[in-house]
Amino acid sequence: MTQASYPALRLRRTRASAWSRAMHAENRLTPSDLIWPLFVTEGQGVEEPIKSLPGVSRWSVDLMVQRAREAQAAGIPCLALFPNTQPERRSDDGAEALNPDNLMCTAIRAIKDAVPGIGILTDVALDPYTAHGQDGLLDEAGYVVNDATIDVLIGQSLNQAAAGADIIAPSDMMDGRVGAIREALEEEGHANVQIMAYAAKYASAFYGPFRDAVGSGGLLKGNKKSYQMDPANSQEALREVALDIAEGADSVMVKPGLPYLDIIARVKDRFEVPVFAYQVSGEYAMLEAAAAVGAGDRDALVLETLLAFKRAGCSGVLTYHALHAARLLGA
Ligand code: PBG
Repeated sequence: MTQASYPALRLRRTRASAWSRAMHAENRLTPSDLIWPLFVTEGQGVEEPIKSLPGVSRWSVDLMVQRAREAQAAGIPCLALFPNTQPERRSDDGAEALNPDNLMCTAIRAIKDAVPGIGILTDVALDPYTAHGQDGLLDEAGYVVNDATIDVLIGQSLNQAAAGADIIAPSDMMDGRVGAIREALEEEGHANVQIMAYAAKYASAFYGPFRDAVGSGGLLKGNKKSYQMDPANSQEALREVALDIAEGADSVMVKPGLPYLDIIARVKDRFEVPVFAYQVSGEYAMLEAAAAVGAGDRDALVLETLLAFKRAGCSGVLTYHALHAARLLGA
């Protein structure tokens, strides 16, 4: 095929007017692409702003229900819930994760009751419940043990599913946990509960504000490099994704988001599976800080980064900007 070239070919032609740009847009961002992570705290009528995440608060269950209504009205299909567990409910074995009346389960039931049409995604990992802030159980040397941790994660998943969670999202990075959780969900009558695997989750410096939000930051000793991935690796991410798909994941997630768009694109290229990205707390904080010093227009920065995930191949994005972005898109 002979390609036209300049001057017959002018790529600026289709960019010349708004209607033409709209017609030629290859990707589009809509509110239904957005999953909104929210932090739950104890009490009634409580809003606790999170200093390292300006504009994001923890909400008590009653106020969380209002957030769920707002999300639904803005066209957001799904919420991701994270609990801020009080220190006295934390323990070395994270047993509070198995309590059917813990903060998570209480929030899930309240939202399902009041806003039944919205999806609820729940994080599976023990860090919101452990006294040491690691995602699993420790041996004497302080190593996070794999198989014994999986047994607790299964219990945590079943506890969340019984409370009404729609999507179980294991974020712990233990080997073999997706298959084990899938099997348990099938056996316990939760065949329609989905698994979105945090398949390629990196040991990232961008999680700091999140750890403040769930109250594990101050508790965490050391790092999570013995289970979360090395930012240097991409082949390994593809192996992680392949395993999670083989074990029964309905969708996979790449996390963090923007610094790992290359991973998203490669996963999408290689596998026929829905891919999601988590634009994490540090990314949110970075955008807010940039806007606050006038380095760019906040709304434009937010929408451009979210659209980038669609272009890279994502079906959707977890983002703390979800409500704001959905309202901008709906306006
Ligand atoms: C828990 C978990 C983390 C995040 C989501 N689930 C933190 C971590 O692994 O330390 C981070 C999300 C964010 O930074 O917004 N396993």
